[in-house]
This record gives sequence, C-alpha cells and structure tokens, in this order.
Amino acid sequence: MKKIECMVRPACLEQLVITMEKLDLGGMNITQVVGYGSQKGAGDTSIYRGVEYTVKLKEKLKVETVVPDSMVETVIEQILKATRTDSVGDGKIFIYNIEEAIRIRTGERGDAVI
Ligand SMILES: Nc1ncnc2c1ncn2[C@@H]1O[C@H](COP(=O)(O)OP(=O)(O)OP(=O)(O)O)[C@@H](O)[C@H]1O
Ligand SMILES: [Mg+2]
Repeated sequence: MKKIECMVRPACLEQLVITMEKLDLGGMNITQVVGYGSQKGAGDTSIYRGVEYTVKLKEKLKVETVVPDSMVETVIEQILKATRTDSVGDGKIFIYNIEEAIRIRTGERGDAVI
C-alpha cells in the first residue's frame, strides 16, 4: 500500500475530483494548505495568521489517497493529466509507504480496507 499525497492548484479541484471518482478509489482527503516551492512564492513579504514571512505563502490543495501498489502508477498518471498546466506552481506529488490499514468497523486489514 502507498499513500499518494499531492499539492495542487485550487483551480484543479473539480477536474481532480472527477478524475479520482473515475478511478474508483477506496477514499481520499482534501485539505486546504498554504506553502511554498522553489520560487519561495515569488514575493517580498506576506502575513499569515498575524506573522510576517519573507516568503509568500500560496494557497494549495493537499489531496491524499491510500491505494494498492498496483494502482500507484495509474493514479499518478491521472493526477498529472488533471493538474499539469506547464507553468510554475503546478505542485508536487509525494509517495509514502503505508505499513498497514485497518477498517475500524470490521477489524479487516490490508488491501481489502482501501
Ligand atoms: N519540498 C517540498 N516539501 C513539501 N511541500 C512542498 C515542497 N515543495 C513544494 N511543496 C508544496 O507544493 C506547492 C507547490 O510547489 P511548486 O509547484 O511551486 O514547487 P516548485 O518546486 O517550485 O516547482 P515549479 O518550479 O514547477 O513551481 C508549494 O506551495 C508547497 O505547498
Ligand atoms: Mg514553484
């Protein structure tokens, strides 16, 4: 099992949700985040929750899904299709190993849960 975590532009939300539904994933999470990449937000200063930063924090969506190993490449390919604009700030995809998954209701474990 792997967790696929991607940081993408908020404007991608609709297309990404449509894409993820088609993939028939077991589940996913979407969180609103702020952050920066290699351009450091390309700004002078910005204020987030009362604190001034010399980097400009950009709003992104963090999308997370845990999938069987066999689906990883397909999901990555579909995320790229739904989110790539070829401009800076398109985001990143991170892949994590997942040790175990447990469905609380039944106590099942492993791929059956995701
Ligand atoms: N190394 C990192 N670790 C964690 N989050 C990151 C990292 N790099 C980028 N992010 C997150 O991804 C978002 C988008 O990053 P971004 O696409 O600007 O990366 P980049 O390296 O600058 O690539 P590009 O040159 O295409 O803009 C950032 O705003 C931040 O939320
Ligand atoms: Mg960038």
